Amino acid sequence: MKEKIRIFLPEQEVNTRIAELAARISEDYAGKEVHLICVLKGSIFFMCELAKRITVPVTMDFMSVSSYGNDTKSSGIVRIVKDLDEPLEGKHAIVIEDIVDSGRTLSYLLEILKKRNPASLRLCTLLDKPDRRVTDVETDYTGFNIPDEFVVGYGLDYAQKYRNLPFIGIVEFTEE
Ligand code: IMP
Ligand code: MG
Repeated sequence: MKEKIRIFLPEQEVNTRIAELAARISEDYAGKEVHLICVLKGSIFFMCELAKRITVPVTMDFMSVSSYGNDTKSSGIVRIVKDLDEPLEGKHAIVIEDIVDSGRTLSYLLEILKKRNPASLRLCTLLDKPDRRVTDVETDYTGFNIPDEFVVGYGLDYAQKYRNLPFIGIVEFTEE
C-alpha cells in the first residue's frame, strides 16, 4: 500500500483560522498572562503560529505523552514521556493540541493537569473529529471540525512522516 496526500486545508486557510483563535485568546485573557502547554510532537507547529499572534504575555511549556496504541488509534492509557518543566499552580494554562479524536488521550491528560491547581485550564485544538469521540472532552477553542479522515501535516504525522507539510492533507491509500 502506498499513501498519497490530498490537500484538505490549504496553508493560508489554516493560518487565517489560527490568527482568529489567537485574537480570541488575547481578548479572553486580557490583563492576564497565559501559559501555553504544547503536547509534543504534533502540536508544535500550531503552538508556534498561535503563540506568535497572541498579544497578552505568553509563557510556554512542553510535555510529551504516549498513548499505548497503534498508528491510527489510541488506547486511552497515557504515559508521560516528558513532563512539564514548570509547576502549573496559579497559572492560566491552555493545553495546545493538534487534534482531538476519541478524546481518550486528552481527558486523561486534563485530569492529571487539573490536580496541579492551575488558576484555570482550557483546551485549544487545531482540529476536532467530533464523530469519533468516545470520551467526553470539551474544547474551548477549536480551529476546524473535520470529518472522520486520517489527516497529516502542520505537525500531524502518519508513522512519523509528513509533519512538515505546511497544509493539512488527507492520507489516501492506493494499491500501487
Ligand atoms: P485520541 O486520544 O483518540 O483523541 O487521540 C489523539 C491523538 O491521536 C492525537 O494527538 C494524534 O496524535 C493522534 N491522531 C488522531 N487522529 C489523527 C489523525 O487524523 N492524524 C494524525 N494523528 C491523529
Ligand atoms: Mg497529539
